[in-house]
Amino acid sequence: MNITMIGTGYVGLVTGTCLAESGNDVTCVDIDQAKIDRLRKGDIPIYEPGLTELVLYNTKAGRLKFTTKAAEAVPGAKCVFIAVGTPQREDGSANLDGLWKVVDTLAPLLPEGVIVVIKSTVPVGTNRAVAQRLHRMTGRPIDVASNPEFLKEGCAIDDFAKPDRVVVGVERQEVGEVLHDLYKPFLRTENPFLTMGLESAEMTKYVANCLLATKISFINEMANLCERLHADINDVRRGIGHDQRIGFAFLFPGVGYGGSCFPKDVRALVDAAAHHNLDTKILKAVDEVNNNQKHVLFEKIRAHFDGRLAQRTIAIWGLSFKPRTDDIREAPALVLIDSLLDAGATVRVHDPVSLPNVRQIYGDRLTYCEKQYDALEGAEALAIVTEWNEFRNVNFELMHRTMKQPVIFDGRNVYDPVRMRAQGFAYSGVGLPVAKAAVS
Ligand SMILES: NC(=O)c1ccc[n+]([C@@H]2O[C@H](COP(=O)([O-])OP(=O)(O)OC[C@H]3O[C@@H](n4cnc5c(N)ncnc54)[C@H](O)[C@@H]3O)[C@@H](O)[C@H]2O)c1
Repeated sequence: MNITMIGTGYVGLVTGTCLAESGNDVTCVDIDQAKIDRLRKGDIPIYEPGLTELVLYNTKAGRLKFTTKAAEAVPGAKCVFIAVGTPQREDGSANLDGLWKVVDTLAPLLPEGVIVVIKSTVPVGTNRAVAQRLHRMTGRPIDVASNPEFLKEGCAIDDFAKPDRVVVGVERQEVGEVLHDLYKPFLRTENPFLTMGLESAEMTKYVANCLLATKISFINEMANLCERLHADINDVRRGIGHDQRIGFAFLFPGVGYGGSCFPKDVRALVDAAAHHNLDTKILKAVDEVNNNQKHVLFEKIRAHFDGRLAQRTIAIWGLSFKPRTDDIREAPALVLIDSLLDAGATVRVHDPVSLPNVRQIYGDRLTYCEKQYDALEGAEALAIVTEWNEFRNVNFELMHRTMKQPVIFDGRNVYDPVRMRAQGFAYSGVGLPVAKAAVS
C-alpha cells in the first residue's frame, strides 16, 4: 500500500518505519527541513531503541522516503496518516493549529478513494470536523478514520509491532477493512483489531491516558502518606499488586509523570468536560497531585540542607521523562533543576541520551557530564530522577569516594534503603518509612 505520513516525530517516524518494514511504500513528510535532511542522511533525530536500524534498512530497500513536500507524497497515496503534534494551549485545551494547517494543505492534493487517518491525539469531535472541512474544500466526501496511537516512547517499535490492540474509528465498514489489512502483519498473535465510531476511538485514547495518569497520581499520594505513617510503599505495593483486580502495572511511586502525552491529555479532557458543563474532579486532582509530586524531591533536599542550598553542588542522574528516550517534554527533572538553580545550587547533570536536549534549555547554567560518575564529583547530594537501567547496578564504593557527601535522594526507589545505609549512604526514597529511609 502507498502510505503518506504527515508529521515525522516520535509517533510519525515510528509508525511510518514500521509500516515500511511490513512491505508498504511509505513517504514521511515534515515541515522541519533540518529533520528531513538528517533523516535522508540516515541520521535519526530522536533516540528510540531499535529505530535507527529499521530506518536505515527500509530506506535502503526503497520503501521509506522523506520529504518536506506534501505535493510529492499525497497524490499517489491510499492512506494519508496525520501524526503532527497537538500540544497544550495555556488554558489546557489541545492546540490543533498544526492539524488544521495539514488538513488545508492536503485538501487540494487528495486522490480519489484515499483514506485520511488521524493518529494524533485529538479532542472528541475532531475527526468528524476534519471530514466536514475536507468535504467542503474538495466538494466530495473524503473518508476520515481515527486511529489513536498507544505506543510508549522507549519501547515504541515493540509496542507498534506487537500492539495489545489496534483501535480504529470509522464511518464505513470498508474503511475499517482497508486499515485491518494494513495492521494484520502486527496482529498475528490474535490481539484484537477494534472498530468503533469516530468519537469512541478519539475518547478511547484520552480515557486510556487519563486512567494511567490516575494510577500514578494515586500511588504517589499513597506513597507520600506512607512516609507520614511509617509504612513502606514497597511492601504495600506487594500487598495490593497480587490482587488480580489491582495488579502491579503503573503503580510505582516516583517524582510524577511527564512526557508529551499524560500531562496534556489529562488537561485536554478536563477542558473538554468543562465545555460540556461537567466538572472532572478526579482528573483535576490527578493533575494537581502530579504537579505537587514534581516538587517532592526538591523539598527533601532543601530540608536536608536546612534550606541553605546556595553554593552547594547537587548531582542529578536521569533527565528524560522516562528511561530509554531523549524526550524531556514536561520531565520532572526540569522542575527539580529550576528549583535548585533558583536556590543558588550548582547542578551537575547526567543522562545517557538527553543531555543535548537539556543543554538547549539551560545552556551554560548546568554542568553536563557524559559519564554518570563524573556528575558526582564534589556533589553533596545525588538526586535520581529517571530510572535508567545503568543506574541500578552501580559501583557504590566509587560513588561514595567521588561524592563530597554520600547522600542520595532516590526519586524512583531504584535502591534498597537497608543496603544503602549499610554502604554508608544517607538515603531517602519515595514512600519509605522515615525510620528506615530518612537521610541521617
Ligand atoms: N510521543 C508519544 O509517545 C505519543 C504516543 C501516542 C500518541 N501521541 C500523539 O501523537 C501526536 C504526535 O506526537 P509526537 O510525540 O510524535 O510529536 P512530535 O512533536 O515528536 O512530532 C510532530 C512532528 O510533526 C511535524 N509537523 C508539525 N506541523 C506539520 C505540518 N504542517 N506538516 C508536516 N509536519 C508537521 C513537526 O515538525 C514534528 O516533526 C500527538 O498528538 C501526540 O499526543 C504521542
